[in-house]
Amino acid sequence: MMDIKEVESELSKEVARAETLTELQKVKAKYLGKSGIISQAIASIKDIPQEERREYGQRVNRLKEYAEELIRGKEEEIKRSELQRKLSEEWFDLSVPLEPAVGTLHPITQTLRRIKGILVSMGFSVMEGPEIELEEYNFDLLNIPKEHPARDMQDTFYVNREGYLLRTHTSPVQIRAMLSQKPPIYMVAPGRVYRRDDDPTHSPMFHQVEGLAVDEELSFGHMKHTLENFLREFFEVEVPVRFRASYFPFTEPSAEVDIGCVICKGEGCRVCKETGWLEVMGCGMVHPAVLENCGIDPEVYQGFAFGMGVERLAMLYFGIDNIKLFFENDLRFLRQFL
Ligand code: DAH
Repeated sequence: MMDIKEVESELSKEVARAETLTELQKVKAKYLGKSGIISQAIASIKDIPQEERREYGQRVNRLKEYAEELIRGKEEEIKRSELQRKLSEEWFDLSVPLEPAVGTLHPITQTLRRIKGILVSMGFSVMEGPEIELEEYNFDLLNIPKEHPARDMQDTFYVNREGYLLRTHTSPVQIRAMLSQKPPIYMVAPGRVYRRDDDPTHSPMFHQVEGLAVDEELSFGHMKHTLENFLREFFEVEVPVRFRASYFPFTEPSAEVDIGCVICKGEGCRVCKETGWLEVMGCGMVHPAVLENCGIDPEVYQGFAFGMGVERLAMLYFGIDNIKLFFENDLRFLRQFL
C-alpha cells in the first residue's frame, strides 16, 4: 500500500516548485502518467485485502482528483504569468513615427512625361510604335538608302527574322502615322530605341521623342517657333537656341538644334567642348520623297519633323555627366529625384 499522505505532500511540493509548463508536464507524468505513481496505485487496488480495499480505494481516487485539480490550477497560473511577462517585455511603441519608403518616378520617366506634357499642350497627340520594327519603316521609307552607314551592322541590332530589326530611332513612327492617318497630322512618339553604341554618353538602349507635323502651308518658321518654345519650356529659362544646317536623309533642309550651354552659360566648358553650345535635337522639313512614300502629295502638304534624345535632355536638365547612371538604378542616385 502506498503512503497516501506522503505522496500527497511530495506532489504538492513538486507542483509548487514547477515554474514552466514543461516542468509541470514532467510532474504530471510522474504522478498521473500511464505508469505514474497514482496510476499504479489505482491499478493495484484490486490486490488490497478485502477489508481495507474500499477505504484505500476511495483515498487513492480522491488523491487522483486532488492531483488533477492541483496541476490544472498550476497550469493556469503559469500561463497567466507567462502572458503577463510577454505583455511587459514585448511591446510596440505605437507613437514612433514610421519612415515610409515612398517610391519616386525614375528621372527618365519624369523627363519623358515633361516632354510629352509640353508637346501635348502645343496640340500634338501621342502615338507609339513597336520596338521590333520593319527594316522598311526604320530605313527604306525614311529615304535612308541601302548603302547608308546607319544601316551598318555596327549601329543596328538585327533580329533573327528577315526584314525586322530593333528600331534605331523613333522616326519609323512618323511613317506609321502617315500611312495610317490623313493630314493634318500633329503627333509625337516617345519610346525606346537601340544602337550598338556604348560609352559614357551612349547606351545601347535609350529613349527618343519624335515629332511630326504634316499640314498645308507648313514652313521652317513654324518648326523653329515650335522648337524654340519647347526648349524654353523644357529648360524653364530663356535659353539661347540656334539652328545649324545639317543632314538627315528624311528631311530637306535639315538642321541640328543647339542651346546655349546650360553648364557654362556659353562661356565654354568641358561639357560643351568649349563651343558654348549643346546639341539637343535633329529636325527638318519632311523630305518630299518620304511624304510620297507614304502616299501624301508633297505639292499639297508640307511637314516638319524633329527627334530628340531623352537621356541627353535629362542629363542637361539635371546636370548629370554619365548616361549609365540612369540604368544602374542605384538608390542613392535615384533618391535625388523626388
Ligand atoms: N532620327 C534622328 C536620329 O535618330 C533624329 C531626327 C532628326 C529625327 C531629324 C527627325 C528629324 O524627325 O527630322 O538621330
